[in-house]
Amino acid sequence: MERGTGYTHHSTVQAQGFKDGEAKIKQAMARNALLVDPSLEVIRVADLGCSHGSNAIHAVDFVAREIIELRDLKLSSSSSSSLEIQAIFSDITANDFNTLFSLVPHLQGKPYFFSGVPGSFYLRLFPRSSIHFAMTTFALHSLSKIPEEITNKESPAWNKGTMYIDRSSPQAAIEAVVRQAKEDLQNFLQCRAQELVTGGLLVSKFLIRTTRDLEGPLHNGFQEAWKDLIQEGIISQESLDTFNFPVYFRSCHEVQDALDSVKEEFKVIHREVSKVQIPPRQPSDSMRAFKAISKPFIEQHVGDEKIVELMYSRSLSKELRSRDLFSMLLVLEKKEFIVI
Ligand SMILES: C[S@@+](CC[C@H](N)C(=O)[O-])C[C@H]1O[C@@H](n2cnc3c(N)ncnc32)[C@H](O)[C@@H]1O
Repeated sequence: MERGTGYTHHSTVQAQGFKDGEAKIKQAMARNALLVDPSLEVIRVADLGCSHGSNAIHAVDFVAREIIELRDLKLSSSSSSSLEIQAIFSDITANDFNTLFSLVPHLQGKPYFFSGVPGSFYLRLFPRSSIHFAMTTFALHSLSKIPEEITNKESPAWNKGTMYIDRSSPQAAIEAVVRQAKEDLQNFLQCRAQELVTGGLLVSKFLIRTTRDLEGPLHNGFQEAWKDLIQEGIISQESLDTFNFPVYFRSCHEVQDALDSVKEEFKVIHREVSKVQIPPRQPSDSMRAFKAISKPFIEQHVGDEKIVELMYSRSLSKELRSRDLFSMLLVLEKKEFIVI
């Protein structure tokens, strides 16, 4: 993710996506017993893959307000007023936490405390049974890593000539990425199963694929511009042959597989697939949004900042058809841990 305040301006799609899920999240929270447990004096809310824009501030604020409202409604005034909320922002270490914390409001008189935890959500981030509400929005499509074999020229899985897994990819490459995505989602769920307290909620909203077609909506002209620059001799064919963008949109079936692996740990409270509402915008807006997400990866791979800028500016004239994006909203509740 590009550093600085840019993410706030280029994340309206994610902001709208969270808003679209708010009513369902509210319903799930209203039915949850833990959040209104009068003996709870501190509730910990974690936003995983928070990035450094205002969406994270809005998301934790939405959850905290809901908790306070529910407790005001259901508990005596002494139990509801003694509550304190710890809001925890978490993302990979490269995230621009300085920009994020500069956006945190000074909520005088409000019982909120903010903190940050760096690290990958595919690993453990918090002590056992310490989190009451965890959420992750528009982040789970990122893979923890690119499977080595797909960049290995000697392997049948070498995914040359494309930066994504797509129709042109060898079957072995597709299988390697699907395996990685499955392992990642299972790890994510297993880590949260350990960190959430019994009755705690895990809310995830993430981009998915609703068809078998692997040519996903990220095919936005950037790769075509890259190929043009190769033709013109400005950049090498090797640069594209050895690059893979670490993103994969899982199918509903693949998500279900991962859920099956944690059915002892989580109860599914809500699951819904919906079209992501994309506000009307110029091609340059969507390319800027893509740039905010992809630039650090491209820059690290290509090395030359001038060429990288040229790749993005050339992409503008290549902007292809805009495709529908779909996301899944998943609300899980941590089951009681039973020793047999
Ligand atoms: C598109 S942004 C979404 C940010 C925010 N949740 C929103 O809805 O606007 C994706 C974020 O996920 C983070 N991310 C990607 N892989 C991650 C991982 N393995 N662990 C934690 N965060 C990750 C990225 O660094 C980035 O900040």
